Amino acid sequence: MKLVSLFIIVLGLIAYAFVRNPLPDVDRDVCGLITSKNYPCELLHTQTEDGFTIGIHHMSNPGGKPILLWHGMLQNAATWAMNFPNQDLIYLLFDAGFDVYMGNSRGTIYSQEHTSLDPKNDSEEFWERCDFDFGSIYDLPAVIDYILENTGYQKLGYVGHSRGSTLMNVLLTEKPEYAYKVNLYAALSPPVHVSKTKSPAILLLDEARKKLYMNDLFSLFGVHNVGINNPVLIKMFSEVCKTTPIVCKLAIFMFAGWDFDSFNMSRIPVYISHPETVPIQDLNHGLQVKSSGQFSSFDYGNEKNLQVYGQPTPKLYKLSNIPLDGVKWMIFYGGNDVMVVPEDIHTLVDELHPQLLYNEPKYLPTFSHLDFVWGINANKFIYKDIVNAMLEQDFGKIN
Ligand SMILES: *[C@@H]1O[C@H](CO)[C@@H](O)[C@H](O)[C@H]1NC(C)=O
Ligand SMILES: *[C@@H]1O[C@H](CO)[C@@H](O)[C@H](O)[C@H]1NC(C)=O
Repeated sequence: MKLVSLFIIVLGLIAYAFVRNPLPDVDRDVCGLITSKNYPCELLHTQTEDGFTIGIHHMSNPGGKPILLWHGMLQNAATWAMNFPNQDLIYLLFDAGFDVYMGNSRGTIYSQEHTSLDPKNDSEEFWERCDFDFGSIYDLPAVIDYILENTGYQKLGYVGHSRGSTLMNVLLTEKPEYAYKVNLYAALSPPVHVSKTKSPAILLLDEARKKLYMNDLFSLFGVHNVGINNPVLIKMFSEVCKTTPIVCKLAIFMFAGWDFDSFNMSRIPVYISHPETVPIQDLNHGLQVKSSGQFSSFDYGNEKNLQVYGQPTPKLYKLSNIPLDGVKWMIFYGGNDVMVVPEDIHTLVDELHPQLLYNEPKYLPTFSHLDFVWGINANKFIYKDIVNAMLEQDFGKIN
């Protein structure tokens, strides 16, 4: 880890010397990105049952029907505001009259406060609770209920990218009553099954974990959280990407896959300048789902599993728990997505009751994992479908 950090710092310093004018969006936070495009934005907060304060970005459209969007791993709400008004889903939804909300997962820079735990000191308990087991059953209900209470509607629409869809998948299996608070759920590259993943970064981490006989990445990194959302590091990332975009393109490819058609190379400094922290347990959990082939809760080992789950093995998240007369799913997946590959999506679709599907899952042959949020043609292939489908939904009468 020290070597990696040193390498990044040296690279950053070299690049820094060459750089003059970064794109203005590089230095903007979520509301900065949105208001600079002449749209409204405010940061709201709500508290979860287990003491986290969750930041919610809101593009207020008073009286409009509410839609909640949730970002993926290594991201926060900024992921929805990376491009321009005719391109990003949030602007299309807003222009269609919707009241738009964007969640920020526990542990991201917008959701780091807790009633008793302190994230600053690499607090083990704080970062353990940033695992998706907890984000799903605490963050989502808190934010969904907050929005419904404040707008008076009975249902909202939900869009989840990658881990943002995992949160909804777990919520629907663990608290099925939420199937009646969401009318339509657009799942962008949803990772329920990841055993066939081809992501070089994930395969490398998994190999490292096995080769080094380290049962978890905590022993590999020596920390509970890899805080790459550090402002100094972010500055360096974006400078490197400005001077040598190909380096950053390669780094992105390592995770997500390659797509020439949808990716705007000249915006890489913007994409790379809003990274989020990686809670190690959450990463371990992802690798566990990959290796075991099972969509289940975190495996603490027999002894602690018994205490936490009342059984020696992790708890399976059963999609069959989801009621059939509630939320309907739209699924989108990509042929160049190395993170969540088509085969794994097919496995998910086979497991889902056909009644849960709003329409046939949509296959985008050229799309990589990040094109679903950053692709400059996602508006044409995905977002138009989502906006039109949301316009047809019943959001329940205003209370
Ligand atoms: C940080 O954690 C260490 C080890 O757990 C502890 O000794 C120290 O007092 C903590 N510092 C603060 C400021 O909480
Ligand atoms: C790509 O990004 C650059 C830099 O922000 C921008 O000027 C350009 O308009 C973008 N191209 C497209 C097709 O969105």
